[in-house]
Amino acid sequence: MKKMLTGLQPSGVITLGNYLGAIKKMVENQEKYDSYIFIADLHAITVTQDPVELRKNIKNLIALYLACGIDPNKNKIYIQSENEYHANVSWLLECNTYYGELSRMTQFKDKSLKHTNFSAGLLTYPVLMAADILIYDVDIVPVGKDQKQHLELARDIAIRFNKKYGETFKIPEPVISFDGNEFLVKDLQNPSIKMSKSSENKKGVIMLLEDADSIRKKIMSATTDSEMSVHFDPKNKPGISNLIHIYSSITNKTYDEIKDEFKGKNYGEFKKCVADEVIRVVSEIQEKYNKIINSDEIDKILDEGRDYTRKIAKEKYELLKEKMGLGR
Ligand code: AMP
Ligand code: TRP
Repeated sequence: MKKMLTGLQPSGVITLGNYLGAIKKMVENQEKYDSYIFIADLHAITVTQDPVELRKNIKNLIALYLACGIDPNKNKIYIQSENEYHANVSWLLECNTYYGELSRMTQFKDKSLKHTNFSAGLLTYPVLMAADILIYDVDIVPVGKDQKQHLELARDIAIRFNKKYGETFKIPEPVISFDGNEFLVKDLQNPSIKMSKSSENKKGVIMLLEDADSIRKKIMSATTDSEMSVHFDPKNKPGISNLIHIYSSITNKTYDEIKDEFKGKNYGEFKKCVADEVIRVVSEIQEKYNKIINSDEIDKILDEGRDYTRKIAKEKYELLKEKMGLGR
């Protein structure tokens, strides 16, 4: 079985876009791959974090992923900082990575331009990410567009290391992107941009932990058009097409089936059905979330994930030390 690994930044909020675009696919993929999912808290601290918030976000995010259907029996679930070998391996890889490579990374250039004072961690961030991946000899790393360059660097580092010290790392397959060519969930108020947690106008964004009334209001006031016809045409009808996409992702109905279902009906009736479906899915997730967040299940899962991955990571770290001539 091929190995798949996903790192998640503990950012605190998850949108309906994240759920339909990425988490639902992870739930499908857990059947097909030997899956590793971890919270990248060491990556989070490359920019300033409030310690109390950070710790809360880590736990909330794990609870939310479990509530969304990530199965602890089918995934290794762990926190990056609880496995100290990630940082140890990262140092060894840093010494096999060029400053020039890191300073050319788009994310580093963007983030470092925004601040006059930024941490050295912001520069070495992609090497830690390479360590996260290479430690486990992972085959597949599904990432969004913004992380593509980092994954390519991880491949370069692995290839270089293998050449210099002999076969040590499996080279991960080139990027599969969840963003793909698929239709992204768009902002409800401005369907020309994607639904994103960082949007200014919160009326266009649905959060997974949002209450039902608020979700209904947002969907009922979503931007549409004056044509009064429910059919998929993202170019001319971006608002309605977005709602069709959301409805289709949840119900697994095709665009044609949805068109037939709402023939002759008005947008209000259609929006009501979309809202009902979104609320149904979101409240199921919230119910599970509320159960999990106050149980000791999360600690058990994380202990297991930590112990399992630490063993593998320790072996890899010892192998690297051996190859590089470190220690006795
Ligand atoms: P982000 O929250 O932007 O870091 O995205 C995390 C993952 O969620 C990405 O890999 C995307 O594939 C997915 N994602 C984020 N926003 C959307 C969206 N509006 N529609 C579909 N997928 C999304
Ligand atoms: N850098 C990734 C992000 O911001 C998170 C991440 C850290 C990651 N390590 C990883 C993703 C390893 C995939 C593989 O989204």
